Amino acid sequence: MPLPPGPRAPATINSVRFVRRPLDTLLGWQRRYGPVFTVRFLVFGTGVYLADPDEIRKIFTGDQSDLLAGEANSFLAPVLGESSVLVLDGPRHLRQRKLLLPPFQGSAVANFRTIISEVAEAEVSAWRSGDEFPLRERMRALTFEVICRAVFGVTEPVRVARLRSALLSVIDSPAGMLLPAPLRRDLGPWSPWGRMKRRLALADALLYEEIERRRGESDLDERTDVLSLLLRARDEEGEPMSAVELRDELITMLAAGHETTATGLAFAFDLLLRNPDVLARLRDELDRGDDAYLDAVVTESLRLRPVIDGAERTLTKPRVVAGWELPAGIRVYPAIALVHHRPDLYPEPDRFRPERFLDGKAESYSWLPFGGGIRRCIGAALAQAEMAEVIRTIVTSVEVEPVRPEPDPVVLRGITLAPKHGTPVRVVRAAAKSARVPAAIAG
Ligand code: HEM
Repeated sequence: MPLPPGPRAPATINSVRFVRRPLDTLLGWQRRYGPVFTVRFLVFGTGVYLADPDEIRKIFTGDQSDLLAGEANSFLAPVLGESSVLVLDGPRHLRQRKLLLPPFQGSAVANFRTIISEVAEAEVSAWRSGDEFPLRERMRALTFEVICRAVFGVTEPVRVARLRSALLSVIDSPAGMLLPAPLRRDLGPWSPWGRMKRRLALADALLYEEIERRRGESDLDERTDVLSLLLRARDEEGEPMSAVELRDELITMLAAGHETTATGLAFAFDLLLRNPDVLARLRDELDRGDDAYLDAVVTESLRLRPVIDGAERTLTKPRVVAGWELPAGIRVYPAIALVHHRPDLYPEPDRFRPERFLDGKAESYSWLPFGGGIRRCIGAALAQAEMAEVIRTIVTSVEVEPVRPEPDPVVLRGITLAPKHGTPVRVVRAAAKSARVPAAIAG
């Protein structure tokens, strides 16, 4: 069966190009082959990229029974667990998703904003004039703290610190996600999987301790953190989530939600600091008490620098996609980054122009940094609120400048696009001392 044309290079060459310069490589292929093209990759096999909003809508909506998304994430299961919404497909996926969505909707996000502002102010108040650091690292510390408070509902500094060290040692360890199944053998504490298993045991013990402690809390019914809401949730049969399901979803939300948001913020500042006119207008609008431009900055930043370059669906049956009959087993990539760079949808697509989003909302299938359909990002509203509140705090209380003269190149980190150097910045003016003296966030 013929597949849409695409680069003829061997899988190794395509993979190396993609890993080194993911965004430029994808854009180059799109220029050459148009909005639908086939690429052969190492490990992931053959995939068809789709950069046409209408075709993406057809993939994201309608019958999903011949499409898998969780299966491609099964390599995450040893760490995230077999009940993680990220690795499930079919009815089990839908059950977890229905339980997880409500805590992230409506008034919940307003509650999150207060937490985010407090955490952001604490972070920024520790910056001193002349300090230099990769912004992404500070943003990672900050987004971890936000997940700890808003999702886990843990605020006590000692418990936050224990969770930080135990959970990050699991999530940041390449062995957890990348060791192939045959090498996942516990050959003692010095073997890669042996070490990983011990770290996992510690992280699990802390997570189960938090779950049980919360279950017994007298104010459980009034609490608004995600864990408390999940403990009160019931599925369609009236069943609560088990402790294992809760553990798996907590670590999933941390893994899916802290580094992505931190990277989104690092990208946003790489763009803002190199576009002084945009930064000046943002400060003016915030001074006037108008948040519309702030929201447009977040939307435009996620358009120009999406953190995930493409969603992913695997066909379980042959399916006609964009006029091509694709065989079972093939992966289809709704190409987020490519749609975002189409000049017919976004004139002068390489320019950072938040104004383009001031006149109306972004079209659903033309702006998709959070994917779509029954797999759309559960934390999208939290992530956007977080980006907005952190940007507000930084631009209104301190002044930072980029350390490097050139924009940070976009590289691949794990499965995300990221600024190569983590957006190094220098603090030019620190925050004025506030009456409150918030505790600084640990690194
Ligand atoms: C800027 C930050 C973020 C970006 C760019 C992002 C992006 C994405 C994307 C592209 C997907 C896949 C969608 C698809 O396949 O159609 C996804 C899924 C997911 N995200 Fe996010 N995400 C972000 C933050 C968060 C946060 C803060 C959380 C939770 C606290 C979160 C939790 C999840 C979960 C649980 C899924 C799996 C949904 C499912 O399979 O049903 N993400 N995210």
